[in-house]
Amino acid sequence: MSNISELALDAKAVLDKNWLGTYTRPSPRLYPHQWNWDSGFIAIGYSTYDQDRAQLELTSLFKAQWKNGMVPHIVFNQKVPDDYFPGAKFWDSQRSENTPEDYITSGITQPPIHASSALCIYERASDKEKALKFLEHIYPKLLASHRFFYNERDPKNEGLVYIRHPWESGLDNSPNWDNSLKKITPQDLPEFKRKDLKKGVPSEQRPTDDDYNRYIYLLELFKKHDYNESDILEECPFLIQDTLMNSVLAKADHDLAKIGKILGENVSEIISWEEKTKNAINRKLWHKGHGIYDDFDLKADKMIEVDTATGFSPLFSGAPSQNQAQKLYDYLDSKSFCKLHDNKCFSIPNYNMEGEYFEPLNYWRGPIWININWMLHLGLLRYGFKDKAESVKADIIELIRRFGFHEYFDPIKGIGYGSSNFSWTAALFLDVVYEEISNTSDKHRQNLIFGE
Ligand code: SER
Repeated sequence: MSNISELALDAKAVLDKNWLGTYTRPSPRLYPHQWNWDSGFIAIGYSTYDQDRAQLELTSLFKAQWKNGMVPHIVFNQKVPDDYFPGAKFWDSQRSENTPEDYITSGITQPPIHASSALCIYERASDKEKALKFLEHIYPKLLASHRFFYNERDPKNEGLVYIRHPWESGLDNSPNWDNSLKKITPQDLPEFKRKDLKKGVPSEQRPTDDDYNRYIYLLELFKKHDYNESDILEECPFLIQDTLMNSVLAKADHDLAKIGKILGENVSEIISWEEKTKNAINRKLWHKGHGIYDDFDLKADKMIEVDTATGFSPLFSGAPSQNQAQKLYDYLDSKSFCKLHDNKCFSIPNYNMEGEYFEPLNYWRGPIWININWMLHLGLLRYGFKDKAESVKADIIELIRRFGFHEYFDPIKGIGYGSSNFSWTAALFLDVVYEEISNTSDKHRQNLIFGE
């Protein structure tokens, strides 16, 4: 048995450990509920060997969709209500008129990768009839979630949607948010106790208490407004047009239009969303001097001139011209983000290794994340940067082989940090090795791993 085949079995075991019957928690201890974009990546992993689970992962998440179309960032597992902070009670999201009847959720969203996941499930499905029924079921829900973004999060109709909390970006303590968060003075906070630091992850690998105070300040503001989007917009000090969120949305628009076409729907509105968002990414987020995309702070009305790996994420959506892609490539393949054939680092650190806030151990302030690597691997392939794309894939495999299915990895030492047995690391590993394993002559192993 090849190493990769063995690792693929290990990856499946991680997903089995985290599978809770209708969805998969991100990890056994730190994240005990269903998370929004995690489920999108996890469904892509399942699509390589278990169509039913892949479909169920997404249909479960969308059962908790809000009436205004928002897909919440957490759907709480009511069997362990007190196992995470902030839990269901603290969010108190039922204040909103939009919450679903039978599910308790948080009151924010996350990057909408799900149309891309649904298309991937259909394309890989062994039972196409079942997959078509799944698409018929999920398509209106996906459409409503994209409409939520364009109706509720793009007040000036620019084609760029905003996030109103760092947790919505998925990159909680990224250096991108530092300046915008610094302007918040977290006053009148209710008493609260973090639980993340009691789950075996050292504090230097997690956001600080100062970060949490600001996260909670924003959450309290949302509660005060009963999660009403337009009221929050008036008062929220954190409103950012985030490159990653918009790139994932544009890619998902593209994939949603493909799903619509498969179902014989009129997809002109979706195609116009995609075009508009890609154009706006280029118009407003491209930093010509830096040769990368940066986020835009709507409150300060200026670009956030901090370069992180998410600044390359438009490669995933196809927004950059070939000329811009070349500039992105030059920056991506430099000492800042680990140069090709540099034996002293792994690609791709989430933050510039020469940047002033670089911390190789700390969550989104330096480590490598497999979901970002996965998107950039696909983006590099899309623009023809084959060698770099292959080296990013090789590093995904190497990091996992040597250090395990961790949440994030040190870009210099390779060591895995955060949670172990992390679901999307396992799921996206299965995706990147899928072709390789399906092409081996080891039919028995292939079927064992990926099914007929
Ligand atoms: N990533 C967050 C956490 O660490 C929440 O989405 O809990």
